[in-house]
Amino acid sequence: MSTRTLQQILRAHPTSDGAGVKLRRSLGQSPGARLDPFLMLDEFSTDNPDDYIAGFPAHPHRGFETVTYMLEGHMQHEDHLGHRGELVGGGAQWMTAGRGIIHSEMPLQENGRMHGFQLWINLPAREKLKPAAYRDVRPEEIASVALEGGGHARVIAGRIDSQTVSVEGPIQGLSTAPLFADVKLPAGACFTQAIEATHNAFVYVYEGELEVGATGNQRRLAAHEAGLLSTGACIAVAAGALGARFILLAARPLREPVVQYGPFVMNTREEIEQAIVDYQNGELTKEHSASLLSSRS
Ligand code: CO
Repeated sequence: MSTRTLQQILRAHPTSDGAGVKLRRSLGQSPGARLDPFLMLDEFSTDNPDDYIAGFPAHPHRGFETVTYMLEGHMQHEDHLGHRGELVGGGAQWMTAGRGIIHSEMPLQENGRMHGFQLWINLPAREKLKPAAYRDVRPEEIASVALEGGGHARVIAGRIDSQTVSVEGPIQGLSTAPLFADVKLPAGACFTQAIEATHNAFVYVYEGELEVGATGNQRRLAAHEAGLLSTGACIAVAAGALGARFILLAARPLREPVVQYGPFVMNTREEIEQAIVDYQNGELTKEHSASLLSSRS
């Protein structure tokens, strides 16, 4: 089985988004720093309320999916479709912006630690204008699997196999077939996982460090670094002396042009201009507002 090699390291840069939330951005820090279909990965991790209290007030998206995964903290999501979800430690939300969604994510805590991730996954051209959708994933819906080499993996999307058991995440059936797992390894533990050979994959270390690749061909990946992997049938990593916690992401690449303007990600400049006009005219979400009203009446 061909083991994927670590091809490129993207060190996360400090930045801020929303109304001033401090975060670290690895994928998405520049237009070249993407891994099809993954557009962006942000990690927010702080004990200081000033870094998160302003939250992410109402803002639009079109053309892709946003995934928020919380390790610690308490946030509230609200959107124009009337969804209201509370994000707590260990939970996630999977939002398909599609044609358009306007949402906010605001902290429900005034102090304490906030730690989590936001991931943007592109949609294929034929799905960019599909109806918006929102899925709240409670912590207990995310199965955890014990790994042979020690540690465990929580599976948000796709499937993780150990020798004795396969565990599927609550998110399935998307056309990019994403794998999203949160893995914790004790010091020195090894972890290997088969991944669809043609899918793009990366790991993002958020605690400790990893050696990535087959024995004899390893490269070190430190905390707050995203490691973009070659193609190959499996991934092999080993935790450093302090252990490691990381997220593992893989998905089917779209191989389509990407034109991004802030929260809109389309295939052409004209489609971006249309998204801006639609947003200014209140049409970004119009179809859904109308259908929502009719389904409620
Ligand atoms: Co958003």
